[in-house]
Amino acid sequence: MDVKEVLRFAEDLVFAKTGEHLDDLQEAILRGAWKGQRYSKIAEESHCTEGHVRNVASELWQVLSDVLGEELNKSNFKTTLERCRFSIISSKFAKDCTQINNVNVCGDTLQPPEVPKERSPSTPTSDTSKPQTRLDLADAPHISSLFDRTSELATLEKWIVQQKCTLATISGLSGIGKTALSLHLIPKIQHNFEYVIWRSLRHFPPLETTLKTLLEFLLNKPEIELPTSIPDRLSLLMEFLRKNRSLIILDDVQSILSSGQLAGNYRPECENYSILFRQIGETTHNSCLILNSWEPPREITALKGEKSPVRSLQLKGIGTAAAEICRQKSLLNPETWENLINTYRGNPLWLKIVATTIQEIFRGRVAEFLKYDMLFLGEELAATLHPQINRLSELEKNIICRLSREANSVSIEQLLQDADLSPSELFNGLQSLGRRSLVEIEEQENETLFSVCPVVRQYVISNPVC
Ligand SMILES: Nc1ncnc2c1ncn2[C@@H]1O[C@H](COP(=O)(O)OP(=O)(O)OP(=O)(O)O)[C@@H](O)[C@H]1O
Ligand SMILES: [Mg+2]
Repeated sequence: MDVKEVLRFAEDLVFAKTGEHLDDLQEAILRGAWKGQRYSKIAEESHCTEGHVRNVASELWQVLSDVLGEELNKSNFKTTLERCRFSIISSKFAKDCTQINNVNVCGDTLQPPEVPKERSPSTPTSDTSKPQTRLDLADAPHISSLFDRTSELATLEKWIVQQKCTLATISGLSGIGKTALSLHLIPKIQHNFEYVIWRSLRHFPPLETTLKTLLEFLLNKPEIELPTSIPDRLSLLMEFLRKNRSLIILDDVQSILSSGQLAGNYRPECENYSILFRQIGETTHNSCLILNSWEPPREITALKGEKSPVRSLQLKGIGTAAAEICRQKSLLNPETWENLINTYRGNPLWLKIVATTIQEIFRGRVAEFLKYDMLFLGEELAATLHPQINRLSELEKNIICRLSREANSVSIEQLLQDADLSPSELFNGLQSLGRRSLVEIEEQENETLFSVCPVVRQYVISNPVC
């Protein structure tokens, strides 16, 4: 952790407890403590008395100790935070935090925490016999505030804890909040597991590498040599998952999936992940694998179902809760926020990007920004869309270009009339675009209509896609 991360982490903790952000002196104390400075030095640099610094520091350590559930002071602050960054969030912070100013910190609600339901009926449920959870979240990004997502968190908790699903996919466009949601899910459900591990597949590691890193953490036996073959590693992992309730989160799963093909197909060198996902999804065990991806891998669409242990959640925008983003970015003209949110489909990343632009160019005046009859993407937003559109198959590009030319939704019949496609090509393409969350589907008088959202349309119109 560097000092910036420390400040962000401490800020989240303090905000969760008090609803207030760190002030300048609190920040100076944390920076100073991180560098090992004396209070007298911090006081000198902050132009105030040492006594005042000591008082403010003592209150700050108390707040942090309360949230973290362990004694924290100037001398152990650095090591404690570094050691416990994620495990504390997951195991203790979740119990203490509350919903403040509509900020759903840790995904908890104002209701008292539920009595934990254990995944295995044979496992005792009393607090004292709760298993200790071993966590490896070193590969996970920083956790920050989560607005809304109450129903998504409840759904995932129900699937994973009560219904014991073995494989759950969270899919959705980049920036919609898959990573954020799973990070906030962990503290809610981790007490049902003995092991929790987070890995990103961003750099599309070969399956044997992923199995190795999972086994190294789960087995925790550096002295034993892991088998070298994939089938042996896989059976070792499955045996472990049967015997030990484990939660595995694989983030950025789209990286092992292929571009230029319909959604859900693997890169040739990553085809064998399909065996891992199938085994975890189809066999009986007490563990769960969560996959975060722009699109679900093809097994999931085949295996998922209400009665099946395989589930899939397609994440949409956060709707009116995104007003919190506008508030955080100090945007003006609140009466126009709904329009802004709807245009950017409640996608937290898109809204954060555009809110920054509105702040920088229009000093926060949303009404002035919306006055222009064009949709602004800017380089940053376009850069998030580029890899998602670029990876489409030619068939999907053809359809998305056709849809982007329309201001309104169009029916399959209309699409067939002027696109040079057979019905089955069109069905395949639309289904695939739907799985990638790139088309919007609505029902009107017994007819299904398709469209693309304004941001995607704008990107397609202003970039060479087809
Ligand atoms: N519900 C939310 N409330 C507030 N901020 C959110 C919410 N969901 C996501 N964010 C913020 O939006 C940004 C994008 O979220 P996140 O990284 O989770 O998206 P993602 O779906 O995982 O994207 P990608 O597919 O690119 O990995 C982050 O800054 C995150 O903190
Ligand atoms: Mg992500």
